[in-house]
Parts: sequence; structure tokens; C-alpha cells
Amino acid sequence: MPKKKPVIDTSKLSQIDTYTYPEYDRANIPPVGMAQYDTVASPEARYAYDPHIDPSLQWAGKKEGTSFTVLTSSIHIHESIKPHKIIRSVQTIGDNYQDEQGWLFESDIERARKRNDAIEFYQHKNKWTNRLVAGDSLVIMNSMLEKEGMAGQVQMVYIDPPYGIKYGSNFQPFVNKRDVKDKKDEDLNTEPEMIKAFRDTWELGIHSYLTYLRDRLLLARELLSDTGSVFVQISDENVHHVREICDEVFGKTNFNAMIYYRTTGGFETNTLSRIGDFILWYAKNRKNQKYHQLYEPRDSLKGDEHGNYRFVQLSNGERRTMSAEEREGKKNIPDGAKIYRIGDMTSQGPISDPSPFEFNGVIYNPQLNNHWKPNYPHGLERLAKANRIIAVGKNLQYVRFIDDFPVIPINTAWLKTGVSGFSSNKQYVVQTSPDVIQRCLLMTTDPGDLVLDITCGSGTTAYVAEQWGRRWITCDTSRIAITLAKKRLMTATFDYYKLAHPDNGVSGGFVYKTVPHVTLKSIANNEPPQQETLYDQPEIEKKKVRISGPFTVEALPSPVVKPLENADTYPTPFFYENAAKKQSDWMQELKATGILGRGGEKIQFTRVEALEGTKFLQGIAETKENHPAVICFAGETSPLDTRMVNQAMTEMENIRPKPAYIIFAAFQFDPSAAKLIDDTKWPGLTLLKVQMNTDLMTADLKKKSSGSQSFWLVGQPDVELIKIEKGENKGKYKVKVNGFDYYDVKKGIVESGGTEKIAMWMLDTDYDGMSIEPKQVFFPMEGKNEGWDKLAKTLKAEIDHDLIEKYHGTESLPFAVKDNTYIAVKIVDDRGIECLKVIPVGDSNG
Ligand SMILES: C[S@@+](CC[C@H](N)C(=O)[O-])C[C@H]1O[C@@H](n2cnc3c(N)ncnc32)[C@H](O)[C@@H]1O
Repeated sequence: MPKKKPVIDTSKLSQIDTYTYPEYDRANIPPVGMAQYDTVASPEARYAYDPHIDPSLQWAGKKEGTSFTVLTSSIHIHESIKPHKIIRSVQTIGDNYQDEQGWLFESDIERARKRNDAIEFYQHKNKWTNRLVAGDSLVIMNSMLEKEGMAGQVQMVYIDPPYGIKYGSNFQPFVNKRDVKDKKDEDLNTEPEMIKAFRDTWELGIHSYLTYLRDRLLLARELLSDTGSVFVQISDENVHHVREICDEVFGKTNFNAMIYYRTTGGFETNTLSRIGDFILWYAKNRKNQKYHQLYEPRDSLKGDEHGNYRFVQLSNGERRTMSAEEREGKKNIPDGAKIYRIGDMTSQGPISDPSPFEFNGVIYNPQLNNHWKPNYPHGLERLAKANRIIAVGKNLQYVRFIDDFPVIPINTAWLKTGVSGFSSNKQYVVQTSPDVIQRCLLMTTDPGDLVLDITCGSGTTAYVAEQWGRRWITCDTSRIAITLAKKRLMTATFDYYKLAHPDNGVSGGFVYKTVPHVTLKSIANNEPPQQETLYDQPEIEKKKVRISGPFTVEALPSPVVKPLENADTYPTPFFYENAAKKQSDWMQELKATGILGRGGEKIQFTRVEALEGTKFLQGIAETKENHPAVICFAGETSPLDTRMVNQAMTEMENIRPKPAYIIFAAFQFDPSAAKLIDDTKWPGLTLLKVQMNTDLMTADLKKKSSGSQSFWLVGQPDVELIKIEKGENKGKYKVKVNGFDYYDVKKGIVESGGTEKIAMWMLDTDYDGMSIEPKQVFFPMEGKNEGWDKLAKTLKAEIDHDLIEKYHGTESLPFAVKDNTYIAVKIVDDRGIECLKVIPVGDSNG
């Protein structure tokens, strides 16, 4: 018997809401499923430096490179994440039993229109959604500038680059492994794009590191609006170099501050213990920059760091010095007592007329060459009447209560931020504490402004931007980082900040708490005190909870590998100089070791050699059984994508004898490319997906080779579509993920199954062939108090806990389908590697 659902008292439920930005738009960039129509070539963009700035930092390669070019490439949309839809499936009052008329399905007309619209790349605008992009920051920023016309649109850029040039400590090799050590083979990240980022930017040590940073800062500057700011987070190891570079790119006059913020309680050292890192803050144009002053609460006991607040006025009006115990907080001050400090009532500068003032029967005069700060005599009289004057020796002093201004402006030392986050809650080895980025964001942006972080990591900037109603774009070369950030955003909950002008949406701003700023002048002039806005304390709407708004997951297409040395003039920045040499090495290895299949079987070769005159097919081979084969290698540092598969297939048509196998060998497969290989049926031809062991590309970075198999076959992910035959969900479907092929390095065999290696999988129950829009998302490896578990605890009654528990498994919730549709399942393993399975579904599809 199915469990009966409890009756829900809907009046007790909070409303789950999101912030969206209907008034903003974004360029219509291609979805990955339509990438083949994205054929307009764009020239490389050239950026130049002013070589005549002085004085400046010098490093190897700087003088020679006064300009550089960047490949102009489209960014493709791979996933469209709508957290409200994913959560709706597990809400107590939601669409967990979706019907065919529900939100789940688009009509055929809608879909056709969407396809037509989608194909007009860059021709029109779409509604704004936030963006998580996989790929190199330089190419992504260039694409934003050149293809999407986004110069001057970003209000704040946050950059948290690797602090230095050590390899391992900068990157995380597995989704759930956070204790990463430099120079340890097993901690070496083996994502192709990461190896590339490393080789491009750190291989020449500090020299390539500085060029890397300078190039990115230059493009970031182009993207910034005239009122915008950039923040660069860096440790003491390189802060001096990075500041010089920022001076060069942004101009010394645009330097705002070098902030020191605390990250730890300190480390044991022979000398001084380092407790924090730096943030360099520059404006695009200091004269026009946007700035909101932030405040910290005034310490109610000390008042300020100098300990000036050391008196109390008791409820009966009596005034006295606080005792040492009261000041140290060991003893409470009496009820109704108010803490105060005293301040000077005179300023320097002579006066023309004498100005004696009588207070409590005694006449007081300012000292020689001084005058009263308040106006004379009425201001002084008002202060006396307000009981704000006290006689101290021969002088009069002003009484300033701590509550006159209960906050103090923040300065460049942030010693309380980051402290709560020390390392306990970290999802990513190099994660920044959100409160640090929050301060930067609140100082320099308003709700609705656009924030860019080109070093996403676990997505802290995007998370903070989402929390504070700022639009965001973030990118990272690491798929592991992208996976972590995606999960963090998808499962986040936030307070709902009250909108100041609901009709104007988030951009109308929030309702903020204010504090009075009572001053000697305001009392003396009988003026109401000024109100200071606390930009970090918006009013919260209690009956609402907020989740992340919709965002897209995007990626750069993989660059095409140059097949033969000096073969042609394909744009070069992506190619490894000695691609042909590498490919020849791989071919030798292929001949020597063959391709391992599941169950230990091997495809062996009698001949493997270079193929001349083709670009995408680099090798020709013959199996032991005399079957001819051709080989397409993906780049060493990029995944194999659909373009390459299509081009290789075209080239293959002219090869004689007709190949029996076409081997697609890659360190990483773009999920759509893997699907294309799986789905392509060609008479007399077998398409093989062959995974290359990352040892082949990281041998020089490792101390010892694992000595295991270099090539193995990857099958399709093992996904079952099950029609439910009985019970309340009869007629609906569910999906079961049984695993995917995984090479066990220790045992040296290809294993199937391995659901324990699945970090995330997502199900689109109505796949449109363009990009995935998951309706259900699963994190099988998730621990307690993370992701869905945390969200369920926060949302409590709004969530059906039995249903959300399923989001930790490998079997989906029941779902309805429409005829002639497709479902798509994307699986992401713990190394961030993705595979995609598309299954036709519905009566006509069988
Ligand atoms: C120090 S981490 C950022 C951590 C982040 N602040 C957080 O809170 O999680 C630096 C990130 O920059 C990424 N990265 C390094 N080089 C890159 C490049 N060329 N393009 C994009 N991302 C890059 C790394 O993969 C890494 O995730």
C-alpha cells in the first residue's frame, strides 16, 4: 500500500520565491545541441599594453609581448537550471505528481518557436539568467566582449587566482577530496583543461603567472562599467607583484585600498604567524566609482578600540567612570545606565568676539586661539538643555552616548570576517569565506548590478551575489569546481529581502535598516539626526524563503587539435606546440598496449601510423584480425566535442580501404559528443569511444607512472527507463542509473557499475535536444547537512522528506511523459567527468 500523504496546513507554509531580472537581457548564445549551426567565424581579438608606463615590474617575456591575441569563440549553453522546478518536484504542495498539462511540458508550437529563436545566435536578446561557465577565463571574457558586446556592463569583478605557482595546492582532484597536497601524485588534478591552464600559466613559474594575471586584468577592465570595481584576492607571497600589475592595468590613481582580512587563528612558525590574506581593490575610474559605506556594530563595552567609552550615566542622571570589571564585561552595568565618552567642544582658530558661557553657575571661555564648536550661544544652550555638557576641570566637554551612533565605519583591516568559516564548512580546498566577498559586493554594487568572478572555485561569489540579488557570471577551467558550484547554488536557500519598490523588482533595491547618527551639530542646531543606511542589513520578509533563480551552465567548445606539425595555420593559442609528436607517441603506445574492453578483452593492432592529409583523423591502423581502422585524437588539453566527431566522420568517407572502426580517443568527452558517437549508425563501421589514461599527459608532472593501461573502451552509461505498471503511479516512468564504465587503476580492469563514483546525476524528462533542463537532480555521494539535506532542514514543512531523500539515490521519482519525446540523463562522476544518455520515450517511440 502506498503511504498516505499527511494533510498539510498550507497557511503554515512559507512561500518559496526567487529573484529574477526581467528588465535585463543577455545575448542569444548557442545551446550546445545547435552548435553545428554556429558557423560564423570570428577573427582573433588583439589586446595591447602601453609599454611606456613607469616605473613598472619586469619579468621574462613582458617586453617582447606588448600585445596578445585571443581566440574568439562562442560560449554554448549546456544546461538550463531552474531550481524552483527541481524543488517543486519534492515540495509537499508541489507538482510531485505532475500531470501532462502541468508545467512540465512545452507545446510543440512553443518548442518549434524556441528552436527557431535559438538558432538566430547573437541576433536578438533573451531574458537575463545568471551564468556558470566552464572554460578558460581569458577566452570567456573575450567572448563576452567580442561576441556578446558586454564591454562596460560589469559592476564588480572578483578574482581569486591561485596565490602562487605550486601545482597541486591550487586545484582539487575530486569533488569530495579537500585535503590536497602539492607534489603528491594522487593529488594531481587530471582534467585536461586544468592541465592546459597549468601549462599555460604556471609552467614558467612566476613569469608566466604574471603574464596570466595581467592579461586577465586587462580584459576585466574592458568589461567593467565606469562606476565599477575590481577586487583581487592574494596572499603575501605575491601581493607586491600583483599590486604593481594592477597599478599598470588600472592606473595608480584608481587604487582604493589594500584590505587585510583574517583567514585563520594563525600557524605555528619560527617568526610571526600569518593570520590572513589581502584583497587589492581598484576602481575602473575612481572619480565615478559606486561606493556604499559599510559599518560594524560598535562594541557595546569598549565602544572603540581606544577604549574612550569608559563612563556611564545612571538612570538617575548621575555620571561616573566605569569600573574595571564593568569594562571587561565581568559585571553588568546597572539597569537603565548609558555608556558614554567625552569629546572636545572647541576647535582651533581665533574668534572675533569674546564668548563666555555660563554652565552650572560657572563661566567658561574657549582657550586662547580656540572657539566653540557649536554655535554661540544658542547651540551651547541647546546642548546644556539636552544634558550633553559636562565640566572637566576648567573645560567643558561634550557627552557622546554609545547609542548616538551605534556603528563604526569599516576600515581596511577585516579581522572578524572569515573567522567563522576558518575551514570547517569548506566545500572546496581554496574556498573564500562568503562574508569577505559579501563586503566587497555590498560596498560597490546595488541589487540588479552584474558581478563577474573569473575564478569561480566552489562559486562563493555567485552564491553571495545570488543572496544579495545581484546578477552574476562566473567561470572556471575545472569541471570539479563547476560541479561543486552548481550544487551549491542549486541547493541554496536565502532570506527573502523586502523589495523597496516591488513594481521595479530587485533593481528597485531593498528596504534597509538605518541607524541614527546623532552628532553634537545635530543637537546644537536642533536638527533631526542623520540616518545611515546599513546596506548589509536589509529587512527580511518572514513568510518567504528564497532559493536561487534560474541559471545556465555553459562551456566553451573544445579547440581543434592541430594534426601535423606546421600543417596549416589554424589559430594557435590552444595548440600544444608538439601536438604531432604527442600523437605519434600515443600511436606507439596504442600499438604496444591495444585497447582494453570490459571483461578484460583487448583490441590489438598490427599497425598504427600517422595519416597524412587529414585534419581530424590523425592515425590509421589495422587490427590483429586485419580490420582497417582510423583514429581521431582529441586535444591533450580539451574534451572531444561534436564538431570534431562530425568533421572526422566527413574525412573518413574518403579513406580507402573503408575503415571498419573509427576510434575516438580522448582524455575527456563532451557529453554531447559521447552521445553522438553512441548514436551514430553507419553501415559496416563501428564507432569506438576510447578513454585515454591521464598518465599519458601528466607523466612529466608525476613522480612515478602508475604503469597501467593507457587506452580503454567506454560503453554507454547504464541507464534503465522503467514503465511503472501498478500503484498510484501506474503509466508513469522512472529512471534507474546502474552506473557507467570506470577504469580501476589498481586492478587494471574496466568495470561497469560504479554508482558509488557518481557525484551528481540529472534527469530531463522532456529533452529538447538543445540543452538539458533537469527536472530532478540527484547527489548520491552527498553527506549529512549538505546540499539537499541542508535545504530540506531549512525548508522543513515545505519539503516532502521522503521524496527529497530520493534525490540521494540512483532511482528517479516517477514522472509522466508525453508521446514522441526524449528523456536525457546526465551523469557526472567524482572527477567532474560527464556522460549523457538520451532515451526516446512515449508510445510512438516504443
Ligand atoms: C583559489 S580558487 C578560487 C576559489 C573561490 N574563491 C572559492 O571561494 O571557492 C582559483 C580557481 O581559479 C580556477 N582557475 C585557474 N586558472 C583559471 C583560468 N585560466 N580560467 C578559469 N579558471 C581558472 C581554478 O580552477 C580554481 O578553481
